[in-house]
Amino acid sequence: MAYTIAFFGSKPYDEASFNEKNSGYGFELRYYKGHLNLNNVILTQGVDAVCIFVNDTADAEVIRQLAANGVKLLALRCAGYNNVDLNGITVVRVPASSPYAVAEYTVALMLSLNRKIPRATWRTRDGNFSLHGLLGFDMYGKTAGIIGTGKIAKKLIAILRGFGMYPDYNFAREHQVVYTTLDELYRSSDIISLHCPLTEQTRYLINDYSISKMKDGVMIINTGRGQLIHTNALIEGLKNKKIGSAGLDVYEEESEYFYEDRSDKIIDDDTLARLLSFNNVIVTSHQAFFTREALANIAATTLMNIKDFMEHKKLENEVRL
Ligand code: NAI
Repeated sequence: MAYTIAFFGSKPYDEASFNEKNSGYGFELRYYKGHLNLNNVILTQGVDAVCIFVNDTADAEVIRQLAANGVKLLALRCAGYNNVDLNGITVVRVPASSPYAVAEYTVALMLSLNRKIPRATWRTRDGNFSLHGLLGFDMYGKTAGIIGTGKIAKKLIAILRGFGMYPDYNFAREHQVVYTTLDELYRSSDIISLHCPLTEQTRYLINDYSISKMKDGVMIINTGRGQLIHTNALIEGLKNKKIGSAGLDVYEEESEYFYEDRSDKIIDDDTLARLLSFNNVIVTSHQAFFTREALANIAATTLMNIKDFMEHKKLENEVRL
């Protein structure tokens, strides 16, 4: 009997990339649109592996029920695992779908905010060709503060070097990346970009206190995880002009909204609505990873992880406590 994999939170583009790669594996793939949670975990009865994404819930109770239903493996088709309780079932992930995708998207957010390209586009569509309010700054010579220097951040730093930006002020002298304290990073950075995982140590790293240490007019970019930023503190910082702009591909309460078309409903999350009301904030729907190459890598790595598990091989991408 074919090994059965149940996908939760699945979208047509997931189905397309996984169906294509699965031709080399022959697994039975079942796709469910809803996020995995306690209400639908019953769908996993008799399933061998469950595959989830960033906004599915796999807390202790869901994991307990997965195990009780006979599920042997939880395969994350993403890198972050902050949404998963790591006790009770084997968990694998995709550590690098495409660091290039996220790094390039991070730069796209920086440039869009700095040069106000979305606003300029709305204007010209409406016949308004004025430059008033669209003034930006040269990226050249500015300081970028990168929090977390893993796979994505390293690609980002390589791109920013092309602009003549420096990960911190010593870089100009030394021509290499220099690690600095968080306080110094807050003090000296024109742009701060978050690339660390969400953990107990990093939750709400960007809060009232850390914002108070930043340069006036700082740009904050978050393509990491929503809860790295205390959103109400960010909003206060934007209102009192301490923060000059923010590019957010993730939001701490994103799971209700992101990846869904909710355009026929009102937004009942006041914090999200407030964020969307700023003309110096760009919110996107957790799409930094979303390139053709990344989707192909996600499907290839996930199916390989599952095959390795099935064949009792060493699990390269196992997530452990
Ligand atoms: P990685 O594991 O290669 O790098 C993470 C880095 O953060 C490591 O160098 C680690 O030492 C550092 N770190 C851990 N705790 C820290 C702390 N308390 N303070 C400062 N640094 C700390 O991960 P990668 O691939 O670079 O991804 C980073 C994060 O980006 C992921 O954890 C995930 O949450 C997010 N991500 C977002 C995507 C999107 O579509 N928006 C797509 C892929 C990842």
